[in-house]
Amino acid sequence: MGKVGHTFIDLEEVDSTNLYAERMLQKGSVAEGTVILAKFQTAGMGQDDHQWESASGQNLTFSIVLHPRFLPPGRQFLLNKVISLGVLDSLADYVEGATIKWPNDILIGSKKIGGILIRINVEGESLETAIVGIGLNVNQTKFDPSLTQATSLVQVLHQELKLKEALILLCNAIDMRYSQLKNNNNEQLKSDFHQKLLGYKLERKFVVDGQQIIGIIEGVDEFGRLLVIHPGEPVKAYAHKEIEYLLS
Ligand code: BTN
Repeated sequence: MGKVGHTFIDLEEVDSTNLYAERMLQKGSVAEGTVILAKFQTAGMGQDDHQWESASGQNLTFSIVLHPRFLPPGRQFLLNKVISLGVLDSLADYVEGATIKWPNDILIGSKKIGGILIRINVEGESLETAIVGIGLNVNQTKFDPSLTQATSLVQVLHQELKLKEALILLCNAIDMRYSQLKNNNNEQLKSDFHQKLLGYKLERKFVVDGQQIIGIIEGVDEFGRLLVIHPGEPVKAYAHKEIEYLLS
């Protein structure tokens, strides 16, 4: 198994690096750790059918191909932990206090600096492939006015970064976290993920079924559901989209 980033496929322009990886996998085998990187995506995909907007050549938009065959299908959230912690580890070289907004938005303060989109393919009883798409805002200074919550490293640091250097740091950090997973160090991943989880053990406002409700995040269960205690109730497990965090 190769290290994450042993091979870079550098593209000027593509519809989406995730789709490019998917096409490569349809044509034949792709070595674990291969990274597909694009200066510009014409149809960058975000979560929940959103588009991922990223100015040409200013940010990191890339996908990593993994073959986590050692994982059963129900445990795919472990990959979200690996990737979001890897992103946070690498950001720690530049800024303090980045957090994970469940399930896997990367925030600085209350602003989103990065997003993760993982597509898995199951064969039999294991995860054959994971296409891990990562968008990290690095040098972009102006965002579409509709993206009021977006930020970038340059907006925080007031200094441009070399994209390739940031990418290599990121790949190394993800590789380190992926090794923890391969070595079955799940407890470490769990406790680190909780430590970095926005609102962990704090009282916060949420929206559930259209109603604003107070709750305390107790963590994330093995299926990736958010565990929340509402006053006077037993702990509840929420799947993605069943609960919305309110950032203020
Ligand atoms: C999100 O909505 O937060 C997830 C964003 C993921 C964006 C990245 S950019 C590289 C890769 N290719 C895509 O089309 N999307 C992901």
